[in-house]
Amino acid sequence: MPNIGSYDERIKDFDWSISEKELGYKDGDVINIGWYCSDRICQMGKADKLALLWENATGREKNYTFNDVRLASNTIGSFLRGLGINDGDRVCLFLDKIPELYLGFLGILKIGAVAQPLFSAFGDESLYVRLANAETTAIITQRKHVAKVRKIRDQMPYLKHIIVVDYDGRKPLREREIAFSLEEQTPVEDLEIFPTKAESTSVLHYTSGTTGQPKGVQHVHYSLISQYLTAKWVLDLRDDDIYWCTADPGWVTGTSYGIIAPWSLGITQCVQDAGFSAEAWYRFIQKRKVTVWYSAPTAIRSLMKAGEEIVKKFDLSCLRHLASVGEPLNAEAVIWSERVFGHAFLDTYWQTETGSIMLTNFPGMKIKPGSMGKAFPGVEATVLDPKTYEPLTEPGQVGLIGFKPGWPAMMRGYWNNEATYKGKFHNGWYLSGDRSSIDREGYFWFTGRDDDVINTGGHLVSPFEVESALLEHEAVAESAVVAKPDEVNMEVVKAFVALKPGFEANADLELKIMNFIRKKLSPLAMPQEIEYVNSLPKTRSGKIMRRVLHAKEWNEEVGDLSTLEDDE
Ligand code: PRX
Repeated sequence: MPNIGSYDERIKDFDWSISEKELGYKDGDVINIGWYCSDRICQMGKADKLALLWENATGREKNYTFNDVRLASNTIGSFLRGLGINDGDRVCLFLDKIPELYLGFLGILKIGAVAQPLFSAFGDESLYVRLANAETTAIITQRKHVAKVRKIRDQMPYLKHIIVVDYDGRKPLREREIAFSLEEQTPVEDLEIFPTKAESTSVLHYTSGTTGQPKGVQHVHYSLISQYLTAKWVLDLRDDDIYWCTADPGWVTGTSYGIIAPWSLGITQCVQDAGFSAEAWYRFIQKRKVTVWYSAPTAIRSLMKAGEEIVKKFDLSCLRHLASVGEPLNAEAVIWSERVFGHAFLDTYWQTETGSIMLTNFPGMKIKPGSMGKAFPGVEATVLDPKTYEPLTEPGQVGLIGFKPGWPAMMRGYWNNEATYKGKFHNGWYLSGDRSSIDREGYFWFTGRDDDVINTGGHLVSPFEVESALLEHEAVAESAVVAKPDEVNMEVVKAFVALKPGFEANADLELKIMNFIRKKLSPLAMPQEIEYVNSLPKTRSGKIMRRVLHAKEWNEEVGDLSTLEDDE
């Protein structure tokens, strides 16, 4: 019997107080995610239970019990407090998937500071705009990433501390840089946990939009109420599970379901700090005896590409429950996983902004491959008419996905960007920016995004950010960036570029431009293809019409071109 029991029964009298009660929380109490994920689990008698099984690509391994997690997060929290970091200060985690990332996250929360995890492959420009927006006080990083921080630190007087967790003493540290080694510190047994309340800010995750700089999605400690229960009912986590969430905590899946949810449930989780390879993943599942696996469609499609023969080399009978998030999970992937692993990947839909799973397939429910499933109990979801923002009533009609605000993990704002936040609400609904239809039985079917944001392998890339970075290259006069179809990543970044006079459109320059973006922004934002053009399609007011280029890439109708400049 799955944890949720019967979905139909659960939705009848659902109340989030179910989760509050299980967590021992009452309205007005102190609620601190750092404490819930470590101290509370120890108090419940699981101090010696394994919390984290960690390994990297070179075969190094480290294990942590819940008591180790409690002590390590205390130690990091105490160190930060000793530096003068206060509640509400933003502390960035700019780390690979090493233990300090997971332990530091809880340490930051324990002192009431705000955790700002950023993907460690970000280049200096991507890092800078996010730190500048948040006016981040401290950054916790590794030797290998310090150079990127050094490049931008002089533009950030508010960045008071650059903490290096693996300093080896070889090259001198500079002003504001400080070494911190978890292993060399005396563990802090008692840390005064900051008495955060439900509405205290906990995490700041940056996400990309169509226009403007990335937005800092602001979450609060009360989000735990959603994250705990969704993990229990959707991921079906149980006491003896070994859980593997493949997401990097630089992104919301890696924090909500890669730190907070499993540890608040006292579940053992494993982490592999290594790149993707089908063989390495299967070996990891076999070795760690993974029972519950939360991953993403691009990874699943890559596994499909690697074929079924390789699966047979491993004993994956430990697997019990599989789920996916981040992009559309095609029906073939659902059917394939059922055949090959004996369990179908269940699709879940949510966003950085929603903080927790919103639409989902539940264990035990009838699965319709290709559908995102139904709304989580307590989540009121619909599709809206794009003009009137009234719910569409006919099954099968495509509209904008809307959620009634009020679930615990809903973002509380975009950092310093009230106008964009407000623009997300219409007629009492929060609009996710995606389109879907709902069938007769209440299943949601994703049809696409409602903006130009590119979802490449589950990571959102802003065409605006890439275009702006392209313009900084000496050869680029104009550019337009759109999604291009891709077998594995669904979409990849493609750039149309008009060159300045004197530059020759050739393959060598294409590579140089690609690399320029990879270093400045990230490997994800790097265009996989650059097409040289003489000019770009524009509206009469001079705005580049990405949709014309997009339609060409996807072999779609271009639609109304009446405002196109070239038509004049
Ligand atoms: O477009 C939707 C897509 O990913 C977006 C959210 O991205 P992000 O904030 O980075 O969070 C990703 C992980 C929670 C959504 O607006 N998306 C997410 N899940 C699905 C999806 N698209 C289709 N099907 C899904 N299951």
